[in-house]
Amino acid sequence: MSHITAPQLLQKKSLRQRICALTCYDATFAQLIDQHTAVDFVLVGDSLGMVIKGEPTTLNVDVNEIVYHTRAVSRSTKRVHVVADMPFLSYQINDEETLKNAGLLMKAGAHSVKLEGGVTIQNRVRRLVDVGIPVMGHIGLTPQSVHALGGFRVQGKTSVEKQRLLDDAFALQDAGAFAVVIECTPEDVAKEITEKLQIPTIGIGAGKYCDGQILVLYDFLDLNSEFRPKFVKQFFNGTAAIAGACQAYVDEVQQGTFPGPEHTYHF
Ligand code: KIV
Repeated sequence: MSHITAPQLLQKKSLRQRICALTCYDATFAQLIDQHTAVDFVLVGDSLGMVIKGEPTTLNVDVNEIVYHTRAVSRSTKRVHVVADMPFLSYQINDEETLKNAGLLMKAGAHSVKLEGGVTIQNRVRRLVDVGIPVMGHIGLTPQSVHALGGFRVQGKTSVEKQRLLDDAFALQDAGAFAVVIECTPEDVAKEITEKLQIPTIGIGAGKYCDGQILVLYDFLDLNSEFRPKFVKQFFNGTAAIAGACQAYVDEVQQGTFPGPEHTYHF
């Protein structure tokens, strides 16, 4: 079986097939998603800074960390398309740094890379596309700009902001991006962008009219009961299920009922 490609993801828009994506950071989840679901692509997101490293933002992630997690995900998948995030300052400095860092991610097993921004990174995106690296854009709430945006807040609520989002989306499409993530915008803004673009839009907190959806794996599994944003549906009661299993283990160890004879080797 071969991996889903960037052109195949692009084609899903004209076929009116919805694209389903999740973030993924490790081999165990990658294999499970690859073999037992119909998820189209996994994103080795810089959200790993928050959900794996416990940082307050995604800013303190470097390209070697994404390389490490991309290798783990890529080794464990045969079918899904693997997108690797380009972290903060891995593409903002100059073309050379951008190409070098995107190359590291592709050599680690990614099939495409994702960059945040629109008009301001249009030429960078074009350079990557020119050397044969498929690029996914990311507009709206772009977490690497959290300080400039004044926090993790919905974008595109005024006509000026909406026009900026449209300009960004078209800049990415014109530069050759094969898809664009739209994060945290009003539903009608994402709908208008989706209707006007020829490349698929992948929404997160952007309503139901996008061509696809992506969620952070740990959020939709409810692994952090202190972080339940409005746009995430908890498809699994992870905190309760996993905490319950851990406590059952503690109880059995304390009571001396685990390990039982069936878990024990005998001479
Ligand atoms: O890093 C990430 O997980 C992302 C998604 C929120 C799209 O960029």
